[in-house]
Amino acid sequence: MEDLVVVSNRLPVEVKRTQDGYRVHPSPGGLASALDKLMTQRGGAWIGWPGITGPINLDDADTPKDVGYDLVPVSLTERERKEYYLGFSNEILWPLFHDLHPFCEFEPRFWETYQIVNERFARTTKETIDADERVWIHDYQLMLVGEKLRDLGETRPLGFFLHTPFPSENILQRLPWHTVLLRSLIAFDVIGVQTRRDLANLQTALPSLLPDVKIERDEDQLTIEHEKGESTAKVFPISIDFASIQAQATSSPVEREHERIHQRLLLDDHTYLLGVERLDYTKGIPERLKAFQRALEFYPELEGNVTLIQHTHPSREQINQYEDLRELVEREVGRTNGALGSVDWVPVRYTCGHMGFEKILALYRLADVALVTPIRDGMNLVAKEYCATKVNHDGVLVLSKFAGAAEELCDNALIVNPHDVDQMAEAIYVACTMEPEERRRRMKGLREQIEEHNVHRWANEFLETVERRTDPVSKPPSR
Ligand code: F6P
Repeated sequence: MEDLVVVSNRLPVEVKRTQDGYRVHPSPGGLASALDKLMTQRGGAWIGWPGITGPINLDDADTPKDVGYDLVPVSLTERERKEYYLGFSNEILWPLFHDLHPFCEFEPRFWETYQIVNERFARTTKETIDADERVWIHDYQLMLVGEKLRDLGETRPLGFFLHTPFPSENILQRLPWHTVLLRSLIAFDVIGVQTRRDLANLQTALPSLLPDVKIERDEDQLTIEHEKGESTAKVFPISIDFASIQAQATSSPVEREHERIHQRLLLDDHTYLLGVERLDYTKGIPERLKAFQRALEFYPELEGNVTLIQHTHPSREQINQYEDLRELVEREVGRTNGALGSVDWVPVRYTCGHMGFEKILALYRLADVALVTPIRDGMNLVAKEYCATKVNHDGVLVLSKFAGAAEELCDNALIVNPHDVDQMAEAIYVACTMEPEERRRRMKGLREQIEEHNVHRWANEFLETVERRTDPVSKPPSR
C-alpha cells in the first residue's frame, strides 16, 4: 500500500495559543475524525492549517507524536484567515453548497485570497510529496488545488472529495466565479461526492455552465470529457471506523463516564434524546428544539419522562450568522425549559463548548434516541457514530431526509423533514414509545449497513478509482 498524502483545510489537530504556550485539541468536524483513523493505519502525511495564524513550529505545540503519519502545517496570516477561511470558504461556499444562498457575502477580496491560499496549499503539497505517493485533496476550501498543482507541473492522478453537498445549477450560478471554480474542479482526475443527489447536480451543472464539457453517466459514475482531458466523478458515501468506535464505546473509561452520568441523573425509567453537533445553522438545532416543544405539548405522557440532551461545539464564531444562531438556540432552550419544565424536571439540558470524544461516546451510550436533523448536510457522521456505539441494539435514529446519510440509512431510521415541526414531533413520540423488538430490528439493520460500508472501504474504493487513472489509456492527453 502506497503512502497517502491528505490535503485538507485543517490538520486533524487544532492548536490554540494560551498564556503559557499552546493547547492542542482534535479538530472539529466529520472530516478530521474519519480521516484520522485511516491515516493512522496507512501512514503518509497530512497537510493542513493548524487553526492559528502566523508561522508555527508544531514541535513547540506538543502535538501527538506517535500518530503514525506526518503533520505538515500550512500557515495563514490573520487577513487570510478572515478572507479565505471565514470569507470565501464559510461566508460563500459553505452557505451556497447548503442551499442557503441568501447568507452569502459575494465579496471579490475573498475570492482573491481564496486563490492565493489554494496556491500555497498546492506549493506545500508539491514540496511534500514523494514520487510514489497518492495525493488526496479534501473539501470546498481547496477546490483550486488540483489545477494549481497542474500549473506546478504535477502529472500524477489527483483525487478530490467534497464532504459537503454539491448544489444545483440554479444555485451554483449565483456565484460570480462559478466558471473558474468548475474548471478547477474538473482538473482533478477523480471527484468524489457523498450522494446520488450531489452527482445528479454535478451532471446537470457541468455541461450547462461549461459548454465544452460532455458527460456520460453509468450508474453512480460520470465520465466528464473536457478540453484538457477526462475526469471521473463518482458517489462515495463517507463513513466511520465502525470497529474502532464500537471498541472505544465499550472501553472502561467510556463505561465509567456512562455510569457516572447515569448515576448523577438518577432517573431510571427515563427516555433520553440526544443532539450533538457543531453550532452551525445547517444543523437544524432551532427547528429541532421547536419540534421537541411541540412533542411535549401534543403528547402529555412525555411530560416529566423525557429529556433532550443538546450539546453543541462552538464554530466559526466571528461570522454573524453563527453568533445569531447561538443566541437563538439559547433563547429556544430557555423558552422550552421556562414554559414546559418544572422544579423537578428540566426538559432540555444544553451545553456549548469543547467536549472530549470519550464523553460524547458516553452520551451516545446513554441516549435512547438520537435526533440528527440537519436542514442540509453532506453526510453526517454523528448518525453513524451513534449506531456504532449501540452494541445492544437499544437506540432509535431520527434522521433528516436532507442529510446525506439518509440515502443509505432510510430503511431503518425514522426519516423526517426538519422543516415540518408536526412530523418531527410525531417522530419524537414514535421513537420514545417504539416497541423494543422494532427498536432492535431497526438498529441491527443500521449497524450492519454502517459496519459493512465503513471508512476503510470508502477510502479503498476512492483510491482504487484514482489508481485506475494511472492507466495510460485513461490519462488526459494534454497534461
Ligand atoms: O465537514 C465540513 C467541514 O467544513 C470540514 O471541512 C471541517 O473540518 C469541519 O466541517 C469543521 O469546520 P471548520 O473547519 O470550519 O471548523
